[in-house]
Amino acid sequence: MYSLIRKALFVADPETAHGLALEGLRLGYGVGATHLLCKTRSLPVTAMGLQFPNPVGMAAGMDKNGDYIDALGSVGFGFIEVGSVTPRPQPGNPKPRIFRLEKANAMINRLGFNNKGVDYLVQQVKKRRFSGVLGINIGKNFDTPNDQAADDYLLCLEKVYPHADYVTINISSPNTRGLRDLQNTEQLDSLLAVLNSRRLELANEYQKRVPLVVKVAPDLEDEQVPGMAQAIVRNEFDGLIATNTTISRDAVKGMKHADEQGGLSGAPVKDKANHILAEFRGNLPPEIALIGTGGITTGDDAAEKIKLGADLVQFYTGFVYKGPDLVKDSLQAIKAYRSA
Ligand code: FNR
Repeated sequence: MYSLIRKALFVADPETAHGLALEGLRLGYGVGATHLLCKTRSLPVTAMGLQFPNPVGMAAGMDKNGDYIDALGSVGFGFIEVGSVTPRPQPGNPKPRIFRLEKANAMINRLGFNNKGVDYLVQQVKKRRFSGVLGINIGKNFDTPNDQAADDYLLCLEKVYPHADYVTINISSPNTRGLRDLQNTEQLDSLLAVLNSRRLELANEYQKRVPLVVKVAPDLEDEQVPGMAQAIVRNEFDGLIATNTTISRDAVKGMKHADEQGGLSGAPVKDKANHILAEFRGNLPPEIALIGTGGITTGDDAAEKIKLGADLVQFYTGFVYKGPDLVKDSLQAIKAYRSA
């Protein structure tokens, strides 16, 4: 069924198709059809002190403004991460800025954090009926220099705090100049320290401790991992997402669109993402949750990340290529792995 829908959607350019697919999903949700897509969706997991109905989530970027939380939730996701959101609305990069590499089950995007700003997102999030876990992914505006980046993250953290189950600090998009430099140990340590100390105050104010998660790139060198892991532990972060998109093109050389600038996602990022996931698992204590993201296009890919030490998994590109069945397939494969 989804293969037919996909054929129709893929006639349109990727960004138009994205909008059409989400509106279609919302229509399906409105008439109660999307609930039928995933009948057994219960596979409870506790991570970061939160109860997840199941460990399969929608990755950031699909619903940047929190407009489709209930519709996405209705297909069976245990958690949804909205954003990335920035303090002020911004249009992102000129179009075209998303490209499909169909042969590789992959995409390249250089959206550049196009979003309606944190105030809009908060209004949307407040209206949600989704009963799973909601993550809010925060970034910085493109024109905020890195030495003031902490102010953008702080502003977003303060605004989303009362409405989020967890908050992700995105320092790994390749489409905002210099953003990935925030992964350097010293800069990371000072950013995480500022955010953690504000979190302590907010926890007091709202009488709830919201877990903080950092999202990293698949293009890290192995030598960077121990220092980053120490910064995460030292600053009492609760989890890590491995990974965002890659700037490497090794896996798609010669393919149409392979030379477009931006972040590559989908099947070709899987090996790099899994490598970084395993490196962090080896360097982080078990109480720090790992969310495995990048290149899940089958149920077995999802189970593989759990085997490598992920507590939870997320996908984006696989959902574009495989549709809602990927939620069901992932749950089945993870369940089978757990009971083996
Ligand atoms: C993304 N991703 C992303 N990540 C993030 O933290 N904030 C964002 O705003 C976005 N935006 C975004 C847009 C598009 C079009 C894509 C394809 C991806 C990255 C995404 O959440 C995920 O980390 C990577 O895509 C790897 O997972 P998949 O797509 O291989 O499952």
